[in-house]
Amino acid sequence: MVHVEAIDRKGKAVGVTDGHPIVINRGIPGDRVRARVTKRRKGALEGVSLEMLERGPGHVEARCSHHVSCGGCKFQDLSYEVQLEILHGHIAKALRDAAVPFTEVDPVIACVEPWNYRNKMELSFGGIRWVEADEPEGAPRDFALGFHAPGRFDRVLDINECHILFEGGIEIAETARNLAKELQLTAWNPHTHEGCLRHLILRRGVRTHETLVYVVSSVRDDLVDELLERLSASHPEITTLVHGVNSHVADVATSQERRVIKGPGWITEQLRGVEFRISPESFFQTNTLQAERLFEVVLEEAQVADASLVYDLYCGAGSISLLLAADAQRVVGFELSCEAVTDAEANASRNGIKNASFVAGDLAETIGAVNERPDVLVCDPPRAGMHDRVVEKVIELSPQRIVHVSCNVNTAAKELARFAYHGYELVRSRPVDLFPHTPHVECVFTLERRST
Ligand SMILES: C[S@@+](CC[C@H](N)C(=O)[O-])C[C@H]1O[C@@H](n2cnc3c(N)ncnc32)[C@H](O)[C@@H]1O
Repeated sequence: MVHVEAIDRKGKAVGVTDGHPIVINRGIPGDRVRARVTKRRKGALEGVSLEMLERGPGHVEARCSHHVSCGGCKFQDLSYEVQLEILHGHIAKALRDAAVPFTEVDPVIACVEPWNYRNKMELSFGGIRWVEADEPEGAPRDFALGFHAPGRFDRVLDINECHILFEGGIEIAETARNLAKELQLTAWNPHTHEGCLRHLILRRGVRTHETLVYVVSSVRDDLVDELLERLSASHPEITTLVHGVNSHVADVATSQERRVIKGPGWITEQLRGVEFRISPESFFQTNTLQAERLFEVVLEEAQVADASLVYDLYCGAGSISLLLAADAQRVVGFELSCEAVTDAEANASRNGIKNASFVAGDLAETIGAVNERPDVLVCDPPRAGMHDRVVEKVIELSPQRIVHVSCNVNTAAKELARFAYHGYELVRSRPVDLFPHTPHVECVFTLERRST
């Protein structure tokens, strides 16, 4: 029997069995679970949960029937208040583990609407369906549209409900699935590299009610065209429909050839009064309403003045850059994706913003050519964190203030430790919950230069 005491940063349950620490796949603090030990390494035990014996006090019913197999919303059976406490604990622990000097972490800013908050979802078509535990014998296994089963690159869970996706999104997926089956279109098999349909990406402008659907297949043929036409006809709410062809082996939702079937090929969204254009593949925060809260915190922390030169590293389609431009003298955004930079430039001009410019390319390369010292530097790296060369260059540029926005506290804590070693003080840590029911949390860390 395992007595669960905590949830780690990967969402796994940490507990004790017969006086030994153990990590199991599921469970929340206070649960007592019957589990089977699957690994024993140097006294560390790992196991899988078999049966719930007693529920902890924060336990609630999960809304989604796929909750156990999907693994996307690992915190779904945990009350929202307890989720926020756990996320707060993860940030404080990550800072302590990386030996970052800090005084406190602010309470996590809760999401006002913690359901149906995602404005984007990437679904995969799969030629090998993941069979859920409670399914009847003989259920068909050669077609699925949904999410990869946890740890399985080759198995796709067929999804017919998702409570974090924007309302109406699952119905579009349902139509795409039915049409694909009716037209006998095959789904991609990552072992044989055969099959036609690969990805279905859904995006919604929450403020504008515009909807983008992006279908990626391995080839272009008449049946795919028919699916696109009928999908568009069945869902007049789709304001733009894009088709991409990806014949490469790597299973990523991107394409080498793209064509617009309906609408302009992008949607627009509004954040704090600024209008943004979002293309099928460019990054945009996935929780629009909570992103506004996040950016409000970033603006408060950046304290940009009229004369400030501001750098926005990893700027995506320019959301932070364009909001900061209202108060700064000049903002320069840096971003890997050319498509996102094209969007950022278009976003600047559609909002009449003239003091923001953008540099496209890998920051590990582009930052090398920069010599002008910024007053404020904002960085919002991807989950993998910042390249060493970028961290070194930021230290060399020595801005007075660094506002580090992070969706991965583990990589952020290591970067903060390096900034702290080089004379920066972590003055505030302000977490914002952008991803309710998951173990992920966004945090805005503010660093001030204390010495040169
Ligand atoms: C977490 S997003 C932040 C986007 C933006 N700040 C926003 O809020 O919309 C990270 C961005 O970093 C970009 N990126 C990833 N690796 C990069 C690299 N090596 N150099 C420059 N940008 C990179 C991604 O394309 C993505 O747009």
